[in-house]
Amino acid sequence: MKKKLILDVDTGVDDALGIMVALADPNTEILGITCCHGNTMLENVLKNTLRVLKECNRLDIPVYPGCSCPLLARKQYAGDFHGKDGLGDVPDPNAPGLELLQKKKAVQAMIDIVKENPGEVTLVATAPLTNLAVAVQLDPYFPQRLKALYIMGGNTESRGNTTVCGEFNFVADPEAAYIVLDRYTCPTYIATWEFTCRMSLPWSFCDQWLAQDTEKAAFLKKITALSFKRAQSKDYQKEIIAGKGFNSCDTYAMAAAIDDTLITESEEVAVSVELEGTYTRGMMVLDYMELLKKKHKAFIMKKIDSEKFKQMLMNSLK
Ligand code: RIB
Repeated sequence: MKKKLILDVDTGVDDALGIMVALADPNTEILGITCCHGNTMLENVLKNTLRVLKECNRLDIPVYPGCSCPLLARKQYAGDFHGKDGLGDVPDPNAPGLELLQKKKAVQAMIDIVKENPGEVTLVATAPLTNLAVAVQLDPYFPQRLKALYIMGGNTESRGNTTVCGEFNFVADPEAAYIVLDRYTCPTYIATWEFTCRMSLPWSFCDQWLAQDTEKAAFLKKITALSFKRAQSKDYQKEIIAGKGFNSCDTYAMAAAIDDTLITESEEVAVSVELEGTYTRGMMVLDYMELLKKKHKAFIMKKIDSEKFKQMLMNSLK
């Protein structure tokens, strides 16, 4: 039986890549894509998601509009890395229109789809967690009907990419991240900022990957140009750690959700999110001393099979 996924995205460049990796996997079925504010405003996220689906000839996949702002935090975007429009600022005059969107809202859609497929759906969250927080407020039993939850977000060494100690997805909606890490007790796997930095793709691989003679490769090369330039700039180098290369953040969580044998090392620990700190609001808290008395523990990804990951990326552009 195919693996059933719901993707919750804020399509930006790495969300786009994650969607393409999922679409390329023959054993994966995307039941729906729910959109959230994040890398750019919701309307752009919706447009970008439809553009990616059109590029992959998969406009049959339903796209649902979700939350356009965080629960409490002030709205913020990540235009410096993803471009103002979230997809590299290379607009397509023939982009699909928003009339293709589903009328049903994202939160109701994810609740309904999971009710129709109890215990079979893996939810992949690569955006701020606003939609997921609202979902569990609307239906407290939603998390336990999920097969698993994969998140790109948070951090393990208080390193930030948006604030001093904050990774973008958690900082963009700290209250939502807190609610999700507290109330989603299904098997939860987290690809954190430091982990994704350490698993960055060498630029030599990126050259080979985007040199494939396909329309998808040409599309990805176009939309990643701005992010690649930013990632290779001197001041950005300060933000990332360990390996030098392209950090395709969301794609690690997506690839692991598609094939969990990809994860070769992880640690299981109770986690939460700081909401008050001047410097630490949005930072992920890891409770190694078990002082928070949380029964549920998340799997924090530490290492993946890089060769298998690279092959999935190569396949995503064929
Ligand atoms: O911090 C990285 C995360 O923030 C990724 O999900 C990226 O798409 C941005 O939203």
